[in-house]
Amino acid sequence: MNKKLDESLSDVFVKPETGLDTEMFVVDELHLGKNAERDLKSRYSPKERFRMMRREYSLASENVVKPIALEEIEGKKAYVLERIDGDMLMNSLYKLRGNSKLLYSIKQQLEDTVETLHSNGYVHGDLVGGNNIMLTKEGKIKLIDPLYIPKNFEYKEVFIDLDNKAVKSVVNLMYGKVGKPVE
Ligand SMILES: Nc1ncnc2c1ncn2[C@@H]1O[C@H](COP(=O)(O)OP(=O)(O)OP(=O)(O)O)[C@@H](O)[C@H]1O
Ligand SMILES: [Mg+2]
Repeated sequence: MNKKLDESLSDVFVKPETGLDTEMFVVDELHLGKNAERDLKSRYSPKERFRMMRREYSLASENVVKPIALEEIEGKKAYVLERIDGDMLMNSLYKLRGNSKLLYSIKQQLEDTVETLHSNGYVHGDLVGGNNIMLTKEGKIKLIDPLYIPKNFEYKEVFIDLDNKAVKSVVNLMYGKVGKPVE
């Protein structure tokens, strides 16, 4: 493989399409029942999920992973995403101890992004405990791996509540780690 192709490949992250596994887990955990399950299953399609990822990205491009394509790779559907040059936020927190400027910026980015998505009717749905949040080398927050939550999903409020708790738990964890609240 030539070097140029190598480099361009490393710009993308390929994520296999795995259906509604996580969504069904959440439906079970929250005891949302058969109606919610049926509702999700009947609306589900990788194309629709990709369309929603694009729309979420357009609402908060700075802080949401960029979806590039939905492709058939070796007979299986996969999402081609921008490759984020960074680590999971939760694995990086220990390095940020005492860096209150960056911690404050992270808190602000998370709150602003969740607020923007929610006020436009989009709910990530899987940020609990700081899950699915990456931090780039430049200090930017990037949300990855959204759940498939249709806009008019009847249980949207439950997910919004979970998301807000998630932001708080990330922020609290940061406070805990640095020992004092950041302004
Ligand atoms: N766009 C990306 N760029 C770089 N790394 C990524 C990207 N998307 C995901 N990853 C890495 O892959 C891991 C799993 O990704 P993701 O959250 O999308 O899948 P998942 O199905 O939830 O898997 P898991 O349950 O293991 O987290 C992430 O924790 C992250 O380390
Ligand atoms: Mg994940």
